[in-house]
Amino acid sequence: MFYDKVKESADFISARISEMPETAVILGSGLGGLVDFMEEKTVIPYKEIPNFPKSSVAGHAGNFVVGKIKGKLIAAMQGRFHYYEGFSMRELSYPLYVFKLLGVENLIITNACGGINRSFKPGDLMIIDNYINFLGTNPLIGECDERFGPRFPDMSEPFSKEIVEKAEKAAEKIGLDYKRGVYALFNGPCYESAAEIRAFEVLGADAVGMSTVPEIIVGNHLGMKVFGVSCITNMATGIATVKHSHEEVVRVANKAGENLCEWLKTMLIDW
Ligand code: HPA
Repeated sequence: MFYDKVKESADFISARISEMPETAVILGSGLGGLVDFMEEKTVIPYKEIPNFPKSSVAGHAGNFVVGKIKGKLIAAMQGRFHYYEGFSMRELSYPLYVFKLLGVENLIITNACGGINRSFKPGDLMIIDNYINFLGTNPLIGECDERFGPRFPDMSEPFSKEIVEKAEKAAEKIGLDYKRGVYALFNGPCYESAAEIRAFEVLGADAVGMSTVPEIIVGNHLGMKVFGVSCITNMATGIATVKHSHEEVVRVANKAGENLCEWLKTMLIDW
């Protein structure tokens, strides 16, 4: 049964950590630097955790890291699973169910994405105000064990106002300028066509990326307080004047990741 599998994964992790984290952070491409600021770290490679999805893609090794930032215990996913790697929506959101059984209450999701809103520029950070799932599938399709959450979760407020307020305060404290907007999920792995981006723009998207939405949906299903922040690494196809390259995406994410780390650390101090 799904619940028993998740329990086995969670028991494996809890046997290795002395205290349970209340807050989990999913680190997007190029944004893994937060782990460097963690102290008293326990690092558990995904491949050691029973029932965890197995990534077949070279260079996509991931770690589950538990440690303290500014004295606050957090769990971090260094590396996430994507739909374009061939995982089902259920598989790629599996770690969140494990978080739930570990007692995680707050979920911070980060990603690298393309900017559609023409007032954005590469390097900007954007609080996700809302999302559009353009995938035509959903991570909650299939068996629903009500011990995890309801069959038909409400999505009228997918992001925690309380955490957004913390983020706003922290940004003010460090003098960080940020954007806000709607994140749209595109399945990838190719970048979008210019026509697709024009269509998404008309439909209300400010940014587009290949992750995050399944985690937002499942986090809400699990009753967690969810907060999402995107790093605009490039302008989307047709708006950008140059072709996309993954190297450039990672370079910009690494650079903007420094601001993001500062932001998250400041949020955690006053949590
Ligand atoms: N599109 C989709 N995903 C992305 C992009 C993009 O332009 N940039 C980084 N991730």
